[in-house]
Amino acid sequence: MTVNQRKPMIIGHRGAAGEAPENTLASFALAAEQGAEGIELDIHISKDGEIVVCHDPTLDRTTNGSGLICEHNWQDIRQLDAGAWFADNYRGERVPLLREVFEMLPKGFLVNVEVKYSYEGRQEQALLAYLRESGRMEDVVISSFDHQCIRRLKLAEPDVKVGLLYAANLFDHAAYARQADIDIFSLHPYYQTIAASDVKGAATAGLATYPYTVNQEEDFARLTEAGVSGIITDYPGRLRDFLEGI
Ligand code: G3P
Ligand code: CA
Repeated sequence: MTVNQRKPMIIGHRGAAGEAPENTLASFALAAEQGAEGIELDIHISKDGEIVVCHDPTLDRTTNGSGLICEHNWQDIRQLDAGAWFADNYRGERVPLLREVFEMLPKGFLVNVEVKYSYEGRQEQALLAYLRESGRMEDVVISSFDHQCIRRLKLAEPDVKVGLLYAANLFDHAAYARQADIDIFSLHPYYQTIAASDVKGAATAGLATYPYTVNQEEDFARLTEAGVSGIITDYPGRLRDFLEGI
C-alpha cells in the first residue's frame, strides 16, 4: 500500500449476499465468519409494527410468500422460507427481525441499517425506540436514499450516526452534508461514481466514506488506494483475502 495506510473496514452487504440468501441470519453469520467487521442490511415495517429485515418492500423475490411486508403481520412473515430461493441447503432460513440480528452479533460489530421507506414516520419511530431500549445505538449507522428521513432521524435522536446514500455522482458532497444542517457521519456513494478526490474531500469535511456494492478486486484496489473508510461488499471473504494480500 502506498497512499492509504489504513485499510478499509469490511462491511458485508445484506450479510454475505453473494454466497448466502441476503438479509438472513445465515448470511450475517457467514459475513462475520469471513472477516466482516460490519454488515449492511435493509429494513421495512410489518403491519403490526415489527422491524423486518428485507431488501424489497414485497416478499415475492426472496421468500415463498407474496405481497407487501407492511400488509402482513409478523406472525405470518416468520412462517416464510427465505433461503430456498437462493439454494436448497438454505431451505428453512427465515426473514429476521432487526432485533434478532443484533442479538446474534457481538456489541461493537457495526450494523449499517438502510431505511428504505419512512412508512409515514412509523419506521423511524420504531427504529429509534429499538436502538434506545436495546443499548445498541453506538453500533449503528443509519443510511437512506431518502435524505429527509435521515434528517428527521438525526433531529429526533442526536446520538445516532447517520449517512447519506447516493445513487449517482457526488458533486460537492461535503457542501451537501453541510447544507443538510445536521451532523452527518458518512457518505455512501455508488462505487463507480467516486474518485479519490471525492474521498479526500469527504475526509477533510470529517465524513467517512462507504461505497457500495463492490465485488471485484480491481475496485477493492482503487477504493482502498483512494482511502475509503469501508467497503460494502457481497463477498466479505474475497475482500478480506484482498486486504490481507496488500
Ligand atoms: O447501502 C448500500 C446499498 O445496499 C444500497 O443499495 O439496493 O443494495 O439496498 P441496495
Ligand atoms: Ca441496502
